[in-house]
Amino acid sequence: MTRVAVVGRGDVSVVHLAAIEKLGAKLVGAGEQPDVVHVCTPHDQHVPVAIEALENGAHVFLEKPVAHTVAEAERLVTAAKRFPHRKVGVCLQNRYNTASEVARRRLADLGEIRGASATVLWHRGQSYYRAKPWRGAKARSGGGVLINQAIHTIDLLQWLVGDVIAVTGHAGRYSGYDIDVEDTAGLILDHANGARSVLFATVANATDSPVTIEIVTEKATLSLRGDLTISHEDGTVEVIPERRASTGGRAYWGASHELIIADFYRSLAGPEPFWIGPAEALRSQQIIDAVYCQNH
Ligand SMILES: NC(=O)c1ccc[n+]([C@@H]2O[C@H](COP(=O)([O-])OP(=O)(O)OC[C@H]3O[C@@H](n4cnc5c(N)ncnc54)[C@H](O)[C@@H]3O)[C@@H](O)[C@H]2O)c1
Repeated sequence: MTRVAVVGRGDVSVVHLAAIEKLGAKLVGAGEQPDVVHVCTPHDQHVPVAIEALENGAHVFLEKPVAHTVAEAERLVTAAKRFPHRKVGVCLQNRYNTASEVARRRLADLGEIRGASATVLWHRGQSYYRAKPWRGAKARSGGGVLINQAIHTIDLLQWLVGDVIAVTGHAGRYSGYDIDVEDTAGLILDHANGARSVLFATVANATDSPVTIEIVTEKATLSLRGDLTISHEDGTVEVIPERRASTGGRAYWGASHELIIADFYRSLAGPEPFWIGPAEALRSQQIIDAVYCQNH
């Protein structure tokens, strides 16, 4: 039976614990030599905990982002190479959403991608930052809405539309909250295939609106808004429904934590690295870092 330790028992840990229970793995204390360590700590505590777990012989399943800075994330990419028989997975669970998986598959047959647009319009009040002060402290979180919330959407844009070769953007604090991270950001991503994506993200919205991604190709428009809607040139419309969350997490975390965790555990039996490792997850973090660098 796989022995699992969860480091960081805050808000997100409930969905990890639910997935671990569903998989029939055994929860153990960190002193009991776990096979897998889930890292659910604040961003600045990801890499130290992950490296310690690797050095103690465990596989690591790490919450996003890889780290609070790109340099720290690169430290894990390098350290992981010292442990070729240990897997490191990063929790970009929205790649497992039905809408994301189907969109990725179908885009191969829908002609050239012309461009994309995305919105993340969520509400995080001052109380969200007051409850867990690391979230509003740049030195601990690395940033605000981009690295903490919109990172999933930025990851999906680069995964669905294609590699990003240039980033232009602005991130600022408009809410008046007592924090030193950005609450609102706008960016343009230029992809290697010539497509351009635009994204607007804020946590100063009145409510948690559904994340939207719209991708326009030669033959169709794909709209991800929970469900995936594909509107074809000839007027036909397909709707592919999203799964609904079954675990105790927040609705806006989506339904896919248990899918990515189950897939990570399946990968432990094989020789290949997990497909969303630290280097793969670094792609979205580098895009975000490019925006932060333009603002300083
Ligand atoms: N994938 C998602 O959709 C999703 C959703 C929410 C949060 N997250 C991520 O999960 C992580 C945790 O977020 P949260 O909202 O649960 O934070 P939180 O503040 O609620 O919980 C963090 C916990 O870690 C503990 N901790 C801090 N340093 C530690 C250390 N060195 N060793 C052991 N424990 C330590 C804290 O005491 C706290 O209990 C972050 O990386 C966040 O971005 C991901």
